[in-house]
Amino acid sequence: MMPRLFISLGVVISICISCDEGGGMSGGEPVIELLAPTTLTISNLGQNSFRVEWSSVTGADFYEVTIASDDLFDNTVSPYNELRENSTGLNVSNLEMSTEYFIRVRTVIDDQRSDYSITQTVTTLSEPDGEPDIALKEVATTFKVGMAVRASRLNGLHAQILEKEYNSLTSEFEMKMNIMYPRQGDYDFSKADAIVNYAEEHGMQVHGHALIWHAATPSWVENFAGTDQEFEDMVKDYITTTVSRYRGRVVSWDVVNEAFADGSGNLRNSVFLQRMGPDYIKKCHEWTRAADPDVLIFYNDYNMVTDDTKRKAALSLMDEFIRDGVPVDGFGFQMHIAYNGPSRSRIQSAANEVIDRELLLHFSELDVRANPGNDLSSLTDTRAEAQKKKVKEVVEVYNGIPDQYKFALTVWGLRDDESWLLDFWGQADWPLLYDKNFALKKAHTGFVEALQ
Ligand code: XIL
Repeated sequence: MMPRLFISLGVVISICISCDEGGGMSGGEPVIELLAPTTLTISNLGQNSFRVEWSSVTGADFYEVTIASDDLFDNTVSPYNELRENSTGLNVSNLEMSTEYFIRVRTVIDDQRSDYSITQTVTTLSEPDGEPDIALKEVATTFKVGMAVRASRLNGLHAQILEKEYNSLTSEFEMKMNIMYPRQGDYDFSKADAIVNYAEEHGMQVHGHALIWHAATPSWVENFAGTDQEFEDMVKDYITTTVSRYRGRVVSWDVVNEAFADGSGNLRNSVFLQRMGPDYIKKCHEWTRAADPDVLIFYNDYNMVTDDTKRKAALSLMDEFIRDGVPVDGFGFQMHIAYNGPSRSRIQSAANEVIDRELLLHFSELDVRANPGNDLSSLTDTRAEAQKKKVKEVVEVYNGIPDQYKFALTVWGLRDDESWLLDFWGQADWPLLYDKNFALKKAHTGFVEALQ
């Protein structure tokens, strides 16, 4: 009988190489499909080496591994040219640093070769720049260190660094209303689930961010077709559905983000204020508490150090809540700041105003602009030092508050070139703790030094 050819998963050609007459179902010889491994995983990444592991294929005699420096596999790296490997993993060494490599694996059964697996890419680490490789969570013993993440980047080197450095995650944008509730009656928690599942698998907490934010409100909510009462019912349903879904799994929520207008004590004129009136924040806090009695409820805003009027207005709302028994546990300072300000003493005194109220304090979105005046086209050593100093001050202030008011210090992203600030300001900057090659920056050392 001729071998049967059929397409599996659209990409892998499977050959039935030892089929019995009855089509494999009647107890003759087993059918072995000549499949390629479906997943390739990289670990132990170094400057000149890494390990690759692939999923095993039933019946494989061995595998052939090819590594090249181009995606067409024209320039293969010796000796990794169809290198025979009996197990499902290989330590690869003698590579160039800071270089991208392409890896593919195929299965061999009875001298027949499967199609190639998908191609995996990996970039070896760059030369260390002398910054000590000390994990933030190892030195932060009295609070969590967090990072803003995206579901699509919970893998590869991002994941390795995340797992080494951090024990708290905030979703950068996938736990906001426009993503979780894109159409009326139609929730989409796929990205949020991916983040929460990942955090659980790696023993990290998730800080929920942010249920209500004027800048992430879906257009169907902005243009809500219904009465004010129907609007309020819809918001209640959204909060109840979301918070109960993650009950016991998400430790805290920024319930309303950035509710106050800049430079004034006024509430921002959002659709929530327009439709529900000034009590909307209170109601959202109450619905959150009802959906998860143990979740920590935060109010979160930006310019909390520099905009005294806005901070005082937000804090007096907290005072009202505390007085009236409206649930609130903590207050978030976003901390999108710059190398040249605000000063340590202003950060300290604003922080004191929160802890005076016996609220938890979260430095929730730290990034430190190195180029606010757009005078640099690359990060100079001097500016990197100044940025380090500011990071160190921020962490020292946070570390210095009484332990019972500490919650977490969260950094808003991993690598400089991934920062939201590049798009936001439309100019070059290097605001984070890792450079675009995943190398530790002086800013990272500033964080570490503040805690040693
Ligand atoms: C930003 C994210 O970083 C972007 O990826 C997204 O497109 C917009 O939101 N204040 C906040 C954060 O509370 O949610 C914002 O995050 C940055 C400003």
